[in-house]
Amino acid sequence: MSSEQFLWLNQDAELVLGASRAAIYDFKSGHVFSLNAVARQIVTQLLQGAPLSSLSETESSFVQQLINRELGEIGSTPSLTPPHRKQQQAPFLPRLKFLWLELTDSCNLRCVHCYMNATHVSELKSVPARARPSLTNRDWMRVIQQGAELGCRAVQFTGGEPLLHPDLLALIDTARQLEYSYIEVFTNGTLLNESLSAQLKARDVQLAISLHAVNAVTHDQVTLVPGSYARAQQSVQMISKHEIPVRFGTTTLKTNQNELFANSPAPQALRGNNVLRPIGRGANSNLNPDQPQIIESAMKSAPDFQTSRASFEYARHWNICWAGKMAITASGDVIPCVFGRERVVGNVNQESLHDLISSPNLQSLWGFNKDRVEVCRDCEYRYACSDCRPLAEKLNGELDAKTARCTYDPYTGEWSKANSSFASLDDDHQTNSPIVFSVTKIFDRKDPFHRSEDECDPDRPPSGDEDFTFAFPEAT
Ligand SMILES: C[S@@+](CC[C@H](N)C(=O)[O-])C[C@H]1O[C@@H](n2cnc3c(N)ncnc32)[C@H](O)[C@@H]1O
Ligand code: SF4
Ligand code: SF4
Repeated sequence: MSSEQFLWLNQDAELVLGASRAAIYDFKSGHVFSLNAVARQIVTQLLQGAPLSSLSETESSFVQQLINRELGEIGSTPSLTPPHRKQQQAPFLPRLKFLWLELTDSCNLRCVHCYMNATHVSELKSVPARARPSLTNRDWMRVIQQGAELGCRAVQFTGGEPLLHPDLLALIDTARQLEYSYIEVFTNGTLLNESLSAQLKARDVQLAISLHAVNAVTHDQVTLVPGSYARAQQSVQMISKHEIPVRFGTTTLKTNQNELFANSPAPQALRGNNVLRPIGRGANSNLNPDQPQIIESAMKSAPDFQTSRASFEYARHWNICWAGKMAITASGDVIPCVFGRERVVGNVNQESLHDLISSPNLQSLWGFNKDRVEVCRDCEYRYACSDCRPLAEKLNGELDAKTARCTYDPYTGEWSKANSSFASLDDDHQTNSPIVFSVTKIFDRKDPFHRSEDECDPDRPPSGDEDFTFAFPEAT
């Protein structure tokens, strides 16, 4: 009997090959480890059945590191899929987990960047009625009911300005009765009063309020309505008095860029947490922030990943942001998210949510994972990386384009340093070592200069990590 030993990958780890490097996804710790080309080759050969006895001393120390980190283990037979490893899960249909309901496409503000081109209430009369058909109350209730029947438990009422909708509270009640557990109202905060605050509190809703600065001049320059900041501030006080849970939405624009970042009086929660999408009025390039530090902060310019078995399996089959979500516009059109406005997959007055979910149109968008994206399909981080398809599409012109905001080139294995202010732990140039194996760092989300394109996603995962790099001293 052979006394050879072989490397097995731990059952809670997965190897993902990129064009030049590789990554080991560790579901126990949540870390994504990066392997340079040499480490990639060693691991690949070992997992294909090369015995450990074939390794040099240096290579054996590297393998020992894998074992110490519980990424690998020693087996007595060569096996890519050792008997104790779980079988790969079959593709599953994600359930509907989040609904945006745009109750109206009109608004009492005129924000310069509004992605949905909301019509100001004063101009409604001049818009032909046919151009702005809206769902009735019964239509919305049916949609909420159909969502519940599909297992959806999270809904956001948005707009336009949802507080303009006369039946907002009745629709919230419907959602509550149908056991939605997460009910959020996204508002510009100008129309709240004491009575409405009390009624929202009684219904146990969450609020999201748009605040674009911590001073009236700048905020009102964004909304183009004088007094909007003062009213939003009053709302914040009322909300606090009624102890309604609230988060803030602050889009980073040229107008407010100087007030949201370093040394800003803005509370952490306000520091430009939302990246401008070049959609609707937001497509005006004069709105783009132009401070280099802010532009950089919106770039993916160093590895910043975490993983879990569930998110990994999800990303292998589905678009990590779109899958399980739907937005319904005021006219009943169904789009994959509020930014994907041109990708109408149907209308709730013609089809049920059940039929829409199973339609090839929506399935194709939900299934648009990174294996379908140019360049990303060759990247070892593709099952841990975030994605905003509407943003990538608008910046690069194609639905399957890699986002222009990522500086990683999986073919060379390098992050562009030209516009990076972050030191990369993944940087082979920091060491002369032939084998580099490092944990990809998860940036502190409290870092005022860190921006993510995922901020529209209320169920984004928490962060937190330790640093780790393993590099060999140069062979003597
Ligand atoms: C469309 S509004 C609807 C709710 C409400 N009227 C409000 O402003 O809070 C929802 C959020 O999207 C943000 N938003 C609008 N246009 C955007 C764009 N082009 N890119 C990114 N976010 C945008 C708004 O600033 C707001 O925080
Ligand atoms: S972003 Fe919101 S508040 Fe501003 S115009 Fe659009 S819908 Fe109205
Ligand atoms: S955006 Fe694409 S290339 Fe960049 S890290 Fe993510 S998956 Fe890799």
